[in-house]
Amino acid sequence: MKRFYIPSDSTALAVGADAVAQALASEAQTRGETIEIVRTGSRGLYWLEPLVEIDGPEGRLGFGPMTAADVGGLFEAGAHPRALGLIEEIPFLKRQQRLVFARCGRIDPLSLTAYRAEGGLAGLERAREIGPAATVEEVIASGLRGRGGAGFPTGIKWRTVAGAKAEQKYIVCNADEGDSGTFADRMLLEGDPFVLIEGMAIAALAVGASKGYVYIRSEYPHAYRTFSAALTAARAAGVLGREFDIEARLGAGAYICGEETSLLESLEGKRGQVRPKPPLPALEGLFGKPTVINNVLSFASTPWILSYGAKAYADYGMGRSRGTQPFQLAGDIARGGLVELAFGVTIRQLVEDFGGGTRSGRPIRAVQVGGPLGAYFPQALLDTPLDYEAMLAKKGMLGHGGLVVFNDRVDLAAQARFAFHFCAKESCGKCTPCRIGSTRGVETMDKIRASRDVESNIALLRDLCETMTDGSLCALGGLTPLPVLSALENFPDDFAPRAAARATE
Ligand SMILES: Cc1cc2nc3c(=O)[nH]c(=O)nc-3n(C[C@H](O)[C@H](O)[C@H](O)COP(=O)(O)O)c2cc1C
Ligand code: SF4
Repeated sequence: MKRFYIPSDSTALAVGADAVAQALASEAQTRGETIEIVRTGSRGLYWLEPLVEIDGPEGRLGFGPMTAADVGGLFEAGAHPRALGLIEEIPFLKRQQRLVFARCGRIDPLSLTAYRAEGGLAGLERAREIGPAATVEEVIASGLRGRGGAGFPTGIKWRTVAGAKAEQKYIVCNADEGDSGTFADRMLLEGDPFVLIEGMAIAALAVGASKGYVYIRSEYPHAYRTFSAALTAARAAGVLGREFDIEARLGAGAYICGEETSLLESLEGKRGQVRPKPPLPALEGLFGKPTVINNVLSFASTPWILSYGAKAYADYGMGRSRGTQPFQLAGDIARGGLVELAFGVTIRQLVEDFGGGTRSGRPIRAVQVGGPLGAYFPQALLDTPLDYEAMLAKKGMLGHGGLVVFNDRVDLAAQARFAFHFCAKESCGKCTPCRIGSTRGVETMDKIRASRDVESNIALLRDLCETMTDGSLCALGGLTPLPVLSALENFPDDFAPRAAARATE
């Protein structure tokens, strides 16, 4: 019997994967053929979606992007116009180092049998064998750092929670994924949810927690449904429900709810507002109890670490950035999607070699790395390696690993205004530099863009950025100057007076 694989990932659905699956089923019926259709997650080769795969003698054969009208040819001998050959030989995929995303796009995300057959649950079993203390040490030794943005060592956080004395401890997963151009958390929730469940179960065992929550952004209804179904399956199989259980919660729909203390407030049913630190969530987190809060990718990296050992993981990467990072390519890019690679790959390698340059065919002018609070990199800095420290040295940050490509039509002064506007819109309002400063920033940028007293307004802008950097309570206000100043430093021409040009815009 012929077996077809079609993603039910949100991106694939958005471009018609369901219609392709339905057309395939009815085509088979018309021809009197019995077929099996396996709905998978996505491989992350998004420009090829909807991507259909078929088992071949040497591996899976890919066809894409497919439409309902293209499916008839899949039943016939001879070359199909959408044939891509062996899927794992496509350079975009072949050159990756997929540890966390190894299964994503290959298996039915809700089949625990398929998950186990592909190495799933081996990490949790090893954690059970070696016990809590050794599990924490293994995660520390792997060098894993938080993938949500701040890059804090995951094992150190776990050790703090493990050492705290309390009747109740919690494991909280941050799946708010608010950064522009990022989708890795969603891909995993939809494509391999058991790896997150396993990672959280490992954390629970390591620190002695019995209850976990996953805070999923409200704009991800499909991920929420898939993950909730995975929780039900894990409970039915006894993976969850005895020592440890997890609840999925929908987020409140604000960027600041991704900041860990706001997230905890929101989980407690309150308005998402930042809590001052200390106390650290590791000691007084959810409902005042010791809490591990980590990003989806941080948890999802731990099954591999436990299965293959800390050293094998730490062998990937550069400097103090160990392991792999799932990078996400978006914006004006020919081949958008997910690229998991060891730290150290350069921005240029990702956007040019993997991404194939712009989709529009226009030259790349800027790449924003690390979400809306990340810096804009010009051509001259595209050879910067992606590693936490190397990015910092170039006044940028890695964030959640999102790269958004802009062509030569971008106006970086407009982007600087956007950064302030975004901050003003998303500010939780708790501290003055962010609440007021962001609005003053928009006004100042408007003056600069209107060519009014440009020099003194740029001086004011720098002052404002300094106040926001030094005086904000959290990184929303504290990092908004990063995109603004990178735009100013790297693209000064866009800030220069040019009233005549603007008047005609
Ligand atoms: C404004 C703001 C938004 C954030 N949004 C997210 C987010 O969407 N997802 C995430 O994992 N971390 C986000 N973070 C980082 C979290 O505060 C926190 O560092 C993270 O959940 C810790 O997990 P990790 O160590 O595994 O990265 C955000 C931080 C700030 C300041
Ligand atoms: S920096 Fe902004 S978002 Fe953060 S606490 Fe202050 S007002 Fe709230």
